[in-house]
Parts: sequence; C-alpha cells; structure tokens
Amino acid sequence: MSDQVHVSRHPLVLHKLALLRSNLTEPKKFRELVREIAQLLFYEATQDLGLAPLTVQTPLAPCEGYEVAERVGVIPILRAGLGMSEAVIDILPTVHVWHLGLYRDHETLQPVTYYNKLPNEPNIDLSIIVDPMLATGGSAVAAVDILKHWGARRIKFLGLIAAPEGVQNLSTAHPDVPIYLAAIDSHLDERGYIVPGLGDAGDRQFGTG
Ligand code: PRP
Ligand code: URA
Repeated sequence: MSDQVHVSRHPLVLHKLALLRSNLTEPKKFRELVREIAQLLFYEATQDLGLAPLTVQTPLAPCEGYEVAERVGVIPILRAGLGMSEAVIDILPTVHVWHLGLYRDHETLQPVTYYNKLPNEPNIDLSIIVDPMLATGGSAVAAVDILKHWGARRIKFLGLIAAPEGVQNLSTAHPDVPIYLAAIDSHLDERGYIVPGLGDAGDRQFGTG
C-alpha cells in the first residue's frame, strides 16, 4: 500500500469497528462507536500537527509546554460525516467546522452538491474531510475538488471504511491527500455499497434505514 494510505491497526479501533459493523448495533450505540473510532483515527491523523511552545504556571512552578499552532478545519460531508466532526471538536475544541452537503445519486452514483458553508476566504492551515464511507470515491474526490478550488492547501481525508475502488479513485485524483481509515474492505456491490461494510452509515446513525 502506498504511503498516502494509512489503515489503523490499533486494537481499540479493530475492536470497536467489529461492533460498528454488526447489524445488532442500534443507532445510539452506533453513534457512540462512530465518535470513538473517529477520535482514535483523528489522533493518528494529527501526529504531525504543528506546535508552538508556551509556558504555564502549575500550582508549584512555571512549566514549559506546547499548544497547537495550526488552524485546523474539519469538513464533514453531510450527513454521515456529522458524527465524526462532533467527535473531533470534542478533543480539539479550536477546530473550525465547515459543512459540505453531498449525496450520492442512487442511480448514477455521482455526487450531488446541495450545501456549502465554506467562508469566502480560506482561513485554515489544515483541512480534514470526515466521512465514514469511501465507496466509489466520488463524494471524497468532489469534496477535495471543492476545497482546492476554495484555496485549501493541506488536505487530509479521514474515513472509517473504504472500498479498494474508492481508495484508488481518491488517491489517483488527489495524490497529495493522505487517507486515514479503520479498514479497506473487499469490494463494492452492484448498488455501490461497500462489502462487507456496515450498510448505510447515514441511515444507521440517524435511524432512517
Ligand atoms: C454516503 C457516504 C459518503 C458517500 C460515499 O453518503 O457518507 O458521503 O455515500 O459514497 P461514494 O464514495 O460512492 O461517493 P450518502 O450519499 O449515502 O448520503 P448521506 O450521508 O446523506 O446518507
Ligand atoms: N455509503 C454508505 O453509507 N455505505 C456504503 O457502503 C456506501 C456508501
């Protein structure tokens, strides 16, 4: 696998991923698992975040420390990316969250943009797109296209489960975008669903299946 694609081997990720996939997992538990896995993957995807030194005063003495020096933007692809962005903002409260609404046309599997909340000027150093599913890759490629057109320079993609086709399409279209995942599955079925996957990530989070 290329250096561009990072698939977590962390035992906690693998444990929670199996629970997430199970069709016995109801929406409340599903949402909790999305949040937990997203936080673990975000931790892995931000190992290279820029830091600046700072001094804090403990109850005993001054102490040298660090603070995150980069402006990080998280871009959830609606709907299913919402649970991941809420997880990320919990552990890095300074992130900017910019929503992008894309859905996949059921017939053509092509992404359709219906909402774009990006400000006029790029105001972040690192953009992290979050979406649980990288299936054909059409939505992720479109989201990166939109961010690059907007002026974003450093972009990462954070997903939970990918199909090989999605990884191939995203990495070919945007070889400069690192991809962080919990798993790459076997294939896409005839309806464009990832097999074995977890079904429809939006429906399972929001109880709309
Ligand atoms: C799902 C998923 C991705 C997209 C992936 O969203 O959350 O955004 O499909 O498929 P692709 O890689 O083939 O583009 P969906 O279109 O079902 O919308 P939803 O999140 O509103 O349910
Ligand atoms: N979107 C989903 O939610 N699941 C898939 O398997 C493919 C696209």
